[in-house]
Amino acid sequence: MTTDIDQLQSELLAAVEGAADLAALEAVRVTALGKQGTVTGLLKTLGALSPEERQTTGPRIHSLREAVTEALATRKGALDREALDARLASETLDMSLPIGGLATGSVHPVSQVMEELAEIFADLGFAVATGPEIEDDWHNFTALNIPETHPARAMHDTFYFDEVDGEGRKMLLRTHTSPVQIRTMVGQKPPIRIIAPGRTYRSDSDATHTPMFHQVEGLVIDRGITMGHLKWTLETFVKAFFERDDIVLRLRPSYFPFTEPSMEVDVGYTRDKSGRRIIGGAEPDGWMEILGSGMVHRKVIEACDLDPNEWQGFAFGCGIDRLAMLKYGIDDLRAFFDGDLRWLRHYGFAALDVPTLAQGVGA
Ligand code: DAH
Repeated sequence: MTTDIDQLQSELLAAVEGAADLAALEAVRVTALGKQGTVTGLLKTLGALSPEERQTTGPRIHSLREAVTEALATRKGALDREALDARLASETLDMSLPIGGLATGSVHPVSQVMEELAEIFADLGFAVATGPEIEDDWHNFTALNIPETHPARAMHDTFYFDEVDGEGRKMLLRTHTSPVQIRTMVGQKPPIRIIAPGRTYRSDSDATHTPMFHQVEGLVIDRGITMGHLKWTLETFVKAFFERDDIVLRLRPSYFPFTEPSMEVDVGYTRDKSGRRIIGGAEPDGWMEILGSGMVHRKVIEACDLDPNEWQGFAFGCGIDRLAMLKYGIDDLRAFFDGDLRWLRHYGFAALDVPTLAQGVGA
């Protein structure tokens, strides 16, 4: 019996050691420890032995089972490691491969237009300035010569916070990008030439208004700036943006608290054969308003601690979403912010198509 057990043990341990993979190892385990296994069979014989025999043979059979169980576990660990090493050696992940299909993103028309504006105005010597979307009522209104009683201050237009800031100013979501004019004039010495694109907010929602929308502000402050500079700048910008030289602008007198004089600017459109409006054409069929502008009001310049007798300038403000709709023929504003991937795939731009003047900014 003793020699049988010893021999079985060495056979089993050899079989465990020789198992080439996990399946072979499992087969050895079943042969030894399964219901019909050899070791299980030996354990079953214990009951039939005399008490003396059981005392000598019992421990040997148990230690056989332990030795085999342990050898199986050790061999399994080694085979698992081998399998993992083989996978690590054969599997590679090429991070440079394009992801393709659904996962490929595109540039939103609003981002594209912002890039185009930055490119066009950089060529005219304008830097891009930014300001906070959570503003205070001094920057958003007071410094821009919008008094307490101005309708733009009414609750139905402006999203207010309950809190006031450290200086007791009411906090709000900026209703336009014009406060960036103030921050720029307070923060840096003239001459100033900036555009400030960004998100703006008004409590307004219908087919042509969304509570969040985008504007771009323009500001020039220098000595001896006139409306001639303003007109030339706007014409140059609009022609570059719509990529046509035959664009006619119409300047209409208007009112903004922060400019004097103020004007609204329309672009001329013509109609194509199907009656669709196309921006441009030397003899316009009609006009579309695209922006507000004017000469910066002396009270605004004074509010920023500059001397209006020394420094003058012009400013303009323009809806970016509307520019994108006009340039790229998109007719529903709300679709801009639905996040529908089908819309984005249709109207979006390839991420690496950075707008350049040389190619035509929107190419
Ligand atoms: N802030 C104005 C608005 O949101 C737009 C505007 C008009 C900006 C005239 C200007 C400007 O800088 O000169 O309606």
